[in-house]
Amino acid sequence: MAAKDPQPQVWLVLGASSSVARAFARVAAEDGADLILAGRDLEDLKCTAADVVARTGRAAEVLDFDAEDLASHEGFAAEAVRRAGFLNVFLTFGAMPEQEEIDADFALAERAIAVNYSGAVSVLHRLAPYLEAQGAGHVVVLSSVAGDRGRLKNYVYGSAKAGLNTYLQGLRARLFRKGVSVTTIKPGFMDTDMTWGLDGMFLVASPDEVARACLKAAKKRRHVVYVPFFWWGIMTIIRHIPEFIFKKMNI
Ligand SMILES: NC(=O)c1ccc[n+]([C@@H]2O[C@H](COP(=O)([O-])OP(=O)(O)OC[C@H]3O[C@@H](n4cnc5c(N)ncnc54)[C@H](OP(=O)(O)O)[C@@H]3O)[C@@H](O)[C@H]2O)c1
Repeated sequence: MAAKDPQPQVWLVLGASSSVARAFARVAAEDGADLILAGRDLEDLKCTAADVVARTGRAAEVLDFDAEDLASHEGFAAEAVRRAGFLNVFLTFGAMPEQEEIDADFALAERAIAVNYSGAVSVLHRLAPYLEAQGAGHVVVLSSVAGDRGRLKNYVYGSAKAGLNTYLQGLRARLFRKGVSVTTIKPGFMDTDMTWGLDGMFLVASPDEVARACLKAAKKRRHVVYVPFFWWGIMTIIRHIPEFIFKKMNI
């Protein structure tokens, strides 16, 4: 059985300069949590931290973190735990180069894999022993519906997210034994910098809506959550389209 979560909760937000991370920081602080905001753009993180403190009176500090600098993750995890004592993890960083640009420059494929898969696995694996030792807590990871099926227009990013989803299934089984929940969030389209100017977007969710769904899913110790919920139905249909038809579709 999970130990009782200590109060106040602390959330370590990885990739805290994204708009969904900013929204999550605000929502979690309004809910009574303190925050460690981790990312590359420390000036941006300090603004978010100041905003959270001013709005909610909760504590918020910043920590340097680069998902692609795998060698730094062990020290980073130790420092985050030293500061937080007991922590929960919200992983939001990601990179989605456009498929056509990836096809023209393999370095962009390497970056998509390095950030979305290797970086995420590396930092979660370094945090896992601390989470096990806590015997309670939550890990919430922003994956994507793109990981559910390889599409012509997004298959490198999608495959990195698919790999991440499989990793999270194993991590969930490992941490469940120690009372820690692991939640995979699969958003459809979100209105953020990542999708700015992209064609063909529909049913777009706001960062605030996704952030609230993430916190709710953590509290309910959910396994996999589509946000908004109707993406579960859309992806069920997409997953069941026969391959001989799917390969001809321009999606
Ligand atoms: N937008 C969508 O429609 C959508 C849909 C499904 C899933 N998602 C997923 O949701 C998450 C958030 O995406 P978003 O839409 O908010 O994207 P975004 O606005 O582009 O934010 C991406 C975040 O990732 C960080 N990041 C990138 N490379 C990094 C690195 N090497 N080290 C540390 N941080 C790094 C960025 O930090 P910097 O400020 O330092 O660049 C930024 O904070 C991602 O995992 C994305 O794959 C997005």
